[in-house]
Amino acid sequence: MILAENLTIYYDNYKAVEDITFKLDSGETLLLLGPNGAGKTSLLRTIAGLHKSYEGKLLVFGKPPVEVKDLISYVPQSHSLNERVPLKAIEVVAMGALYKKGLIHFNIPKSILKEAEEALDFVGLGEIKNKRFAELSGGQKQRVLLARALVSKPQLLLLDEPLSALDPSARVEVVSVLAKIKREMGLTMIITTHDPNPLTEIGDKIMLINKRLIAFGAPEEVLRDEIITKVYGPLSKAVRVGKRMYCFIGDVHLHGRGEV
Ligand SMILES: Nc1ncnc2c1ncn2[C@@H]1O[C@H](COP(=O)(O)OP(=O)(O)OP(=O)(O)O)[C@@H](O)[C@H]1O
Ligand SMILES: [Mg+2]
Repeated sequence: MILAENLTIYYDNYKAVEDITFKLDSGETLLLLGPNGAGKTSLLRTIAGLHKSYEGKLLVFGKPPVEVKDLISYVPQSHSLNERVPLKAIEVVAMGALYKKGLIHFNIPKSILKEAEEALDFVGLGEIKNKRFAELSGGQKQRVLLARALVSKPQLLLLDEPLSALDPSARVEVVSVLAKIKREMGLTMIITTHDPNPLTEIGDKIMLINKRLIAFGAPEEVLRDEIITKVYGPLSKAVRVGKRMYCFIGDVHLHGRGEV
């Protein structure tokens, strides 16, 4: 489904990500973890087919990412919508479908509006479809952006820090939508995050990177003191509560980046 072998990602001669190897099966959710500058966004954009300067093997659905872009939805770290443009929630969602079809937004076909409405219903926002995007709460905005990512019916969903700007209750809102996407649509997802704790219920695999791959595996394999302290310092701690693993991240520094 996704296969990376000795993947190195470049910006000119600079290596942002070095020698990463992993495999993710269809329907699995991967939490991509690492400190600031670790290369999470670079890896996600490369898998999305948006960044093309890399060496090594990278296959998504058995092909190079640029050849399967239509099957991939990518939600960036911060959305680039100009909130002064008075778009309604439903128009923002419809844009997801129009963009893939190469159409422009002020003449939205009925069929696309219907698909957008279904996607908004799915994320629990059918009621506010005509509200302005700019007037929504942080959690609602993120759910609209998820609906926009879903409307083109992708098979792979790539989310860059979908929880980072949200307060705890908005996080719960968004995580429950992500859990529903996993449960009902069975999409393969890669979610980057600084804090895996709200997401451990949906994460099948965790990858910890700090330019290089530090660890990849099931949560109980990766969220271990001897692993997380390598990246996050001696104050970090992994804790098991019932069946779930949590991690408390201490001192986040980039000392020794690439040399750990
Ligand atoms: N467009 C770019 N041109 C040059 N260097 C870049 C570019 N984008 C990222 N980098 C560099 O690549 C490295 C990895 O950056 P990246 O944004 O992928 O990290 P990240 O893990 O997503 O960080 P954060 O947690 O802050 O979002 C950093 O050293 C960064 O400065
Ligand atoms: Mg990033």
